[in-house]
Parts: sequence; C-alpha cells; structure tokens
Amino acid sequence: MKNKIIIAIDGHSSCGKSTVAKAIAKELGYIYIDSGAMYRAITLFAMRHKLIINNKVETKKLEELIDNIEISFKYNNGLLKYETYLNNENIETEIRKIDVSENVSYISELKFVRELLVKLQQDLGKNKGIVMDGRDIGTVVFPSAELKIFMTADSKIRAQRRYKELIEKGDNVNFEEILNNVEKRDYIDQNRKESPLKKAKDALLLDNSNLNHKEQLDWILKKIDSLV
Ligand code: DC
Repeated sequence: MKNKIIIAIDGHSSCGKSTVAKAIAKELGYIYIDSGAMYRAITLFAMRHKLIINNKVETKKLEELIDNIEISFKYNNGLLKYETYLNNENIETEIRKIDVSENVSYISELKFVRELLVKLQQDLGKNKGIVMDGRDIGTVVFPSAELKIFMTADSKIRAQRRYKELIEKGDNVNFEEILNNVEKRDYIDQNRKESPLKKAKDALLLDNSNLNHKEQLDWILKKIDSLV
C-alpha cells in the first residue's frame, strides 16, 4: 500500500493484540505503539508514590503529580523491540508484573488520565504509518483509522497463554489468579464510565481462540490488501 494508514487494534486483555500488532508493524515498516503500556506506566508511578490504597486511587494527589510523568518508548537494539520508559527509566519488565496488572484498571478508569494519554497517542499517530493496540483506539483515539480490528479469545485460553508467559519469565503465579485477573479486567474495561471497551461499528472481529500467530497475521494482511 502506497499511502500510510492507521491501524487500530482493540480487544480483551491478554488476547495477543500486541504480538499481532508488532508483527504487522514489522511487515509494513510502521511504528508500533502499545497504549496499555502507558496506563501501566502511570499505574507503576501511582504505586511507587503510594497513591493506590485498598483498590482506591488518591486521585487528587495523582492529578497534582501527573505533569511530572514523562512516558516514552525507546528501541532496544539487542532485543529488537520498543521498551517503555517512565521519566527516562526503563520500566518494561516491571509494568508487566501481576501487581501492576492488578491495579491498572483503577488508573485507566480515571478521566484525567485518559485525556492525557489520548492526546499523547493522537500525537504519535499524526504522521500515520502506525499500529496501535489498546481498548479505545478505534472508538476514541483514532475514530477515523483506515483499519480497525477488534480481537478476542475465550478467557480460559487467554489466561493459559498469560500464565505460560509469566511462568517462563520466572514469576511465581497460579492459573486461577491469572484467570481471575483476566476476567476482572474484562468486566472493568467493558463497564467503566470513561471510554469502555467496545467494538467500533466499523471494526472487523478477529476471534483468535483457535488461530496461531501466522494465521492471524495473514488474516490481517489480507484485510490490508483489500483496502487498496
Ligand atoms: O493491554 P494491557 O493489558 O497491557 O492494558 C493494561 C490496562 O490498561 C487494561 O486493563 C486496560 C487499560 N487500557 C485502557 O483502558 N485503554 C487502552 N487504550 C489500553 C489499555
């Protein structure tokens, strides 16, 4: 395709959005942005400042401090991937841990957090040639994206995939804990007041419960071809 486009990928937690989004970006020579990493970065910041107590965020204090947060992505040449930075500190490993996953929903439901991050995300996409994944990319961040995909998979299959990933990283987790986290996040994501997770009317549905990586990539590349 000659003209660069915006590809918005939304969907449920742990359904492999980032894996497929990265592969498409690589294939097309596009930038890949993981918007969930930005919500995770703010969550980590809030946790470090003890602003999340008993599942409640000290919103006033976080709002006061939020201008001190700078989120960026830098390419790691060794690992061949973009990594997330919070005020110039590499936080890529820390933001994937279960304690951040447990708290991120309380941060991502805050209006002032979403407004800040949506602006940042729109700015990153102003030259197009971008693949962004998240929950509100096709509905709020880029409502006129040329290609919108809504991904999902059975929650047990998603939990199994995340469990395997965390165990391989050496994290001490159990399957029930992961499944509960996946289902809880689905519920909160879909039912929150601010930008709830929903399929944009013009998004294409991709259920990958029974598809491998290559099948998903081929499915999306075919859709991109049909746009020309
Ligand atoms: O994609 P992820 O699981 O890393 O995202 C972490 C959390 O951030 C997820 O529970 C929902 C939230 N999120 C969001 O509300 N909007 C986005 N665009 C991306 C993520």
